[in-house]
Amino acid sequence: TKKSNKFIIGFSQCTGNDLWRSNMLAEMLTELSLHPEVDFHYLEAGGNSATQRAQVDTLIEKGIDLLVISPNEAEPLTAAVKKVMDRGIPVIVIDREVKGNGYTAFIGADNVKIGEMAGQYLSQLIGNEGNVIEIRGLSGSSPAIDRSKGFAKAIKQSKSQVEAKTVYGDWMEDTTKNILSKIHRQLQDIDAIFAHNDNMALGARKILNKYYPEKHIPIIGVDACFGEGGGLDMVYDGKITASLVYPTLGKEAIWTALDILKGLPFKKENKLSSIVIDSTNVRVMKMQAAMISSQKDDIYSQRKLLDEQKIIYKSQQAVLNIIIVL
Ligand code: FRU
Repeated sequence: TKKSNKFIIGFSQCTGNDLWRSNMLAEMLTELSLHPEVDFHYLEAGGNSATQRAQVDTLIEKGIDLLVISPNEAEPLTAAVKKVMDRGIPVIVIDREVKGNGYTAFIGADNVKIGEMAGQYLSQLIGNEGNVIEIRGLSGSSPAIDRSKGFAKAIKQSKSQVEAKTVYGDWMEDTTKNILSKIHRQLQDIDAIFAHNDNMALGARKILNKYYPEKHIPIIGVDACFGEGGGLDMVYDGKITASLVYPTLGKEAIWTALDILKGLPFKKENKLSSIVIDSTNVRVMKMQAAMISSQKDDIYSQRKLLDEQKIIYKSQQAVLNIIIVL
């Protein structure tokens, strides 16, 4: 039973302690600030699939009109999405996928393509020959599976002798540092590293610097986040060699949610594209990011102004009504 006549959007986020996801949330909130007709409920599962399942139940109980979900792992969250759909509540799956296509819309990127682009770029950098380590994200999450697929394909296609060893960093810098410390001797004859995200790429660089400070091999990541310490900064500062943009999708999620809620046409499958950021284009990207972020601030202050104007208008109306009555 709904108490208000507002749309209620629930957002179930798999984890929240990284820049990529805080950028996504900030984007959503900016977009939502233009839509006072929407209430937004946000729950974050701390990277735990069981917690996320329980949080989806909580959101159902809150009486949401639509669910946006970035599922921690595909398998364990598929039934949760189905449960919501079965209640007639539309679901937008964002970034990470579930099994099958039992959702209303998907918004993400082509992660196979991202892995492939990384593989091609990296093979070229090392002259199609060498030993490479691939640091994967969480094994049950779809971007890790897809980025691996694409990477393997590119390595195979290049006439190279790239030999990819694989470790799992679970998307996290610390996990990556621990695992690479354990096998640090193997890093000695490595020519390049592909990490499925920039956090893990940074972890790899730190371990290399610790054990082999003379070794300046290329490290490639994914995300290329703007914001302090993000992937753009890492490329700019030379900590990593390149990063593939992984769009944060927050705006697109809210736009699609509103289209669905208002009965407007929308696309079911939405995959945004990526580009390689390296020393040749990182300056331009950083400038663009700065511009976008100042536009975002503009949107906030305009919204505030508008709200103030409304209050003034209402009080003027009240005065006017009194005058008319008199
Ligand atoms: C953020 C993150 C990103 C990665 C994405 C994959 O939590 O780990 O770094 O690209 O999730 O879903």
